[in-house]
Amino acid sequence: MLRHGEIDVALVFRFAGVPVDEGFRFVHIGDDPLHLISSRPDDSVADHSGSAWIGGCERCQEELDAVCRSFGFTPRIASHGDDMVVVQALVADGAGVALLPGLALQAHRRPDVCATEIPGFRGRSPRDLRRPAGHRGRRCCFGNVGCRSGTVASILGVMTTAQEFWETFYSERDQVWSGKPNPLLVREAERLTPGSALDIGCAEGGDVVWLAKRGWRVLGVDVSQVALDRALKHAYDEGVEIAVERHDLKETFPAGEYDLVSAQFLHSPVEEDGERNSILKRASEAVAPGGHLIIGGHAGAPSWSEHQDYYFPTTKDVLDHLKLADNWIVITDEVVGRPLVGPDGQEETRLDNVLTLKRLY
Ligand SMILES: C[S@@+](CC[C@H](N)C(=O)[O-])C[C@H]1O[C@@H](n2cnc3c(N)ncnc32)[C@H](O)[C@@H]1O
Repeated sequence: MLRHGEIDVALVFRFAGVPVDEGFRFVHIGDDPLHLISSRPDDSVADHSGSAWIGGCERCQEELDAVCRSFGFTPRIASHGDDMVVVQALVADGAGVALLPGLALQAHRRPDVCATEIPGFRGRSPRDLRRPAGHRGRRCCFGNVGCRSGTVASILGVMTTAQEFWETFYSERDQVWSGKPNPLLVREAERLTPGSALDIGCAEGGDVVWLAKRGWRVLGVDVSQVALDRALKHAYDEGVEIAVERHDLKETFPAGEYDLVSAQFLHSPVEEDGERNSILKRASEAVAPGGHLIIGGHAGAPSWSEHQDYYFPTTKDVLDHLKLADNWIVITDEVVGRPLVGPDGQEETRLDNVLTLKRLY
């Protein structure tokens, strides 16, 4: 329907690892975790190596096989059902156990079956699938229900503004950033002993991968799943392990304390007043005793940028908002220039600022 121009936008799901069709713009809306459907609460796939399983369509079957394989067994398929209502009825009748995605369970949930999320299996990702730019319109398709609306995400009310902006930003482009670490982070972090690290607004993972290569156990966080998927692939290509979590940091923040918290160029054209300051304050609270907070930022926009009226805080502004207690010291507080060439060959010096802070105890 999209290809033939009958609709302009559709909500679809994709099995993890399956490539997307060329020529469409995809915006990742969310993950749809897989659930084990059985008669016991808090059940585990591992407990069902000898159970009868209810299989589904060919793709669902591949997914079921992959999940069971990861638990060390091949599922014994006793019956088939490709309909979430039928599958739950079969489980309730004692015909076996099954897997279903979480969104299906939100649509229909029998009270007499139990659903246990399977950790680590993201399963299907619902995506807002659109025709290429220039063809955007208002007709959309959600499952087999046609309707008129803006974006599917706003129909579902599941995306924050930051997520919508940054998912679109990354989805519309191939790799955005160089893949190299930020030189100021390198300069500041090189002298630290590796431990646990958190990179907020990690994007496609240039800094995260560099830190991991130096021996840090790194968690990268970004609001965009597309960016995080690229960070994971970058780490895989470089042979290092990283962890990622998707958060809109305005709303949620990863748990735990870290020896290093890094926030590099956490600027966003859609941020609300005070958003960056409160995220940075939360970041300071995530630094473990003896740990460091490194904040890098732009000190202004280049002359050709459309963001002339964007407010770039000074290091003093940042420090004033952090309101750190006297168990913190400032290690670096600096404005650094670097040469930049504009789209028409203009040569300029771009100013960035860097703050490295240490929590003493
Ligand atoms: C200008 S980029 C900088 C990326 C990277 N740190 C670097 O230095 O190259 C800002 C990044 O912050 C992320 N971001 C912006 N607002 C966010 C929010 N509210 N929560 C989480 N990530 C956010 C964006 O998705 C984007 O990847």
